[in-house]
Amino acid sequence: SLILRRSSSMIGVLVPNISSPFFGTFVEGVQQVAQHERMIPLIFSANRNAELEQNYLSQMLERSIDGLIIASATMTTDTIDKIIGARDVPYILFDQNYAQEGTRVLTDDYHGGELAAQHLADLGHRKIALLEPRELSENFTQRLTGFKDRLAKNNIKLDMAHDVVRTSLSRQGGYDAAEAVIQTGATAAFAGNDDMAIGLMRGLSERGIKVPDQISVIGYDNIYLDEYVSPQLTTVSQPSTDLGIGAAKMLLNKIHSDQTQEQIQRFPVELIQRQSTARLH
Ligand code: RIB
Repeated sequence: SLILRRSSSMIGVLVPNISSPFFGTFVEGVQQVAQHERMIPLIFSANRNAELEQNYLSQMLERSIDGLIIASATMTTDTIDKIIGARDVPYILFDQNYAQEGTRVLTDDYHGGELAAQHLADLGHRKIALLEPRELSENFTQRLTGFKDRLAKNNIKLDMAHDVVRTSLSRQGGYDAAEAVIQTGATAAFAGNDDMAIGLMRGLSERGIKVPDQISVIGYDNIYLDEYVSPQLTTVSQPSTDLGIGAAKMLLNKIHSDQTQEQIQRFPVELIQRQSTARLH
């Protein structure tokens, strides 16, 4: 079909939090691909604020955006489709839009959670704390379910009332949770992302707790900061730049081909062992 669409040579990228290095490197990946095509990415960070997200989306559409990449915990595909309306603008979902319909890039969060749990179990830890965000988007639910299931397979019980600490999804959140993590009596902690893990390590260190001698800490994402904190952070990597490259390529493909079929591209997760986790002694 011949579709005449005004082109702005712009693609919109909506992420929850631009100050998280995970989304920063994702955007770098998007940009690498966009540059080739002389496209300009417009980036918005709307931190779970549904109204703001929908507002940005409508404004981008009014400016004849060519396509969108969306990570949102609050917008379902129904909401997105409604806002796009008859405009026929293609979009790619990723990260916090995990379980929804639509073309998207994915990593296996469930397996990533399993890798974190198995690593701590292999090091001999039996009393483990979990640091999770207060609001769980689907990708986190998967990640933490994989973690809990794999602990159970190793006969390690996670006491939901005492071993799970909820905080905000940020370095500050991790920092604020340090005392509560110490109170669990755990010898190891899994933080749902690296931002929280890095904040937690600082909080522990200020309370005289040695990582990993007294408490092992493992994070999730493999952001570039992991190698610059002391001790260097053990984590499960998500290839954020590749995810950005993949999402942008899929989107350009859709823009150029009027292809409507749903596509899913999967990227691997991997345990990256550094110095923040150690064998229980
Ligand atoms: O802050 C980045 C984290 O939140 C990542 O773990 C990513 O998966 C996201 O949802």
